[in-house]
Amino acid sequence: MRIGSVQLDSPFLLAPLAGYTDLPFRLLCREYGAGGGLSEMISCFGLTYQQDKTHAMLASAPEERPVGIQLFGADPLVMGQAAALVSRHPIDFIDLNMGCPVKKVIKRGAGCALMREPDLARRIIRQVVANTDKPVTVKFRSGWTHETITAPDFARMAEDAGAQALTIHARTWSDGFGGQVDWEVIARVKEAVRIPVIGNGDLKSRQDGLRMMAETGCDAVMIGRAALGAPWVFSPEEGPIGLSRRLAALNRHLELIGQLLPAERMMGRIRSTACRYFKGVAKGAAIREQIFAAPDFVSLKELTSRLAA
Ligand SMILES: Cc1cc2nc3c(=O)[nH]c(=O)nc-3n(C[C@H](O)[C@H](O)[C@H](O)COP(=O)(O)O)c2cc1C
Repeated sequence: MRIGSVQLDSPFLLAPLAGYTDLPFRLLCREYGAGGGLSEMISCFGLTYQQDKTHAMLASAPEERPVGIQLFGADPLVMGQAAALVSRHPIDFIDLNMGCPVKKVIKRGAGCALMREPDLARRIIRQVVANTDKPVTVKFRSGWTHETITAPDFARMAEDAGAQALTIHARTWSDGFGGQVDWEVIARVKEAVRIPVIGNGDLKSRQDGLRMMAETGCDAVMIGRAALGAPWVFSPEEGPIGLSRRLAALNRHLELIGQLLPAERMMGRIRSTACRYFKGVAKGAAIREQIFAAPDFVSLKELTSRLAA
């Protein structure tokens, strides 16, 4: 599977998850076998207004590559400017978010709202392509509602406008994150275009992903929520996920966080990240309690190292 000139060594990719797919988590998933990942969605306005917090989201590392930066916005000119800016960073491709269903994004005409404005979406893709030397990809949904499954037409438009790969989350805007993922739509998108298609939605394992590729013909898959607290979802290694494997993954995650983020200033988020590793595990509740009682990052790391010893 290639995205433009970028070769992927595995067709299992990490999906963008705002609030989660930061640099440490992307590196961790890559170490476990993900073929690459995407940043959280980044506002084109935040980038062009030089907001420090937005720029911090562009941090990447050579070991995680190939990595894509995802932009969202509804103004072709600003999206083009943001693409030019992002292209100066050591990244491999630029992804355009045309699937986000969240109200505050839709209200601005961005995310999935662009599926109702295909002409504007086309102008955005063209403008971004014209302003970068990186391959451009687009992530979108099945359509706005079940009565308007426009994904195959939208895919053709995106290919025609210069996109080099597409990701389809096979739900409509009206589904939000509920309802059934429709694999048939992924197959129709794959038939509609010549560029690679990445399928997405509710995959819980590599086996699920292999089945999606076999049944829909898609070239790769993205896994999002199933990777949270479970980066081994990308690993070809089989076998039970016991406590020691969970603790090893968490300890590596905490090590990367300690190296790359201001850990002491984000303990709330780190504690809940750590707790995810023990969901549905015997003795999990007791471990989660200890995690929540850890007063700071150093004590949390001591705790999880002790548990792993
Ligand atoms: C908390 C959360 C944050 C998300 N953030 C993004 C995002 O920034 N950009 C994007 O394209 N999709 C985003 N998504 C959608 C996911 O990338 C993915 O399409 C969706 O969760 C379905 O895949 P999954 O079932 O494997 O998680 C987000 C989803 C969740 C649950």
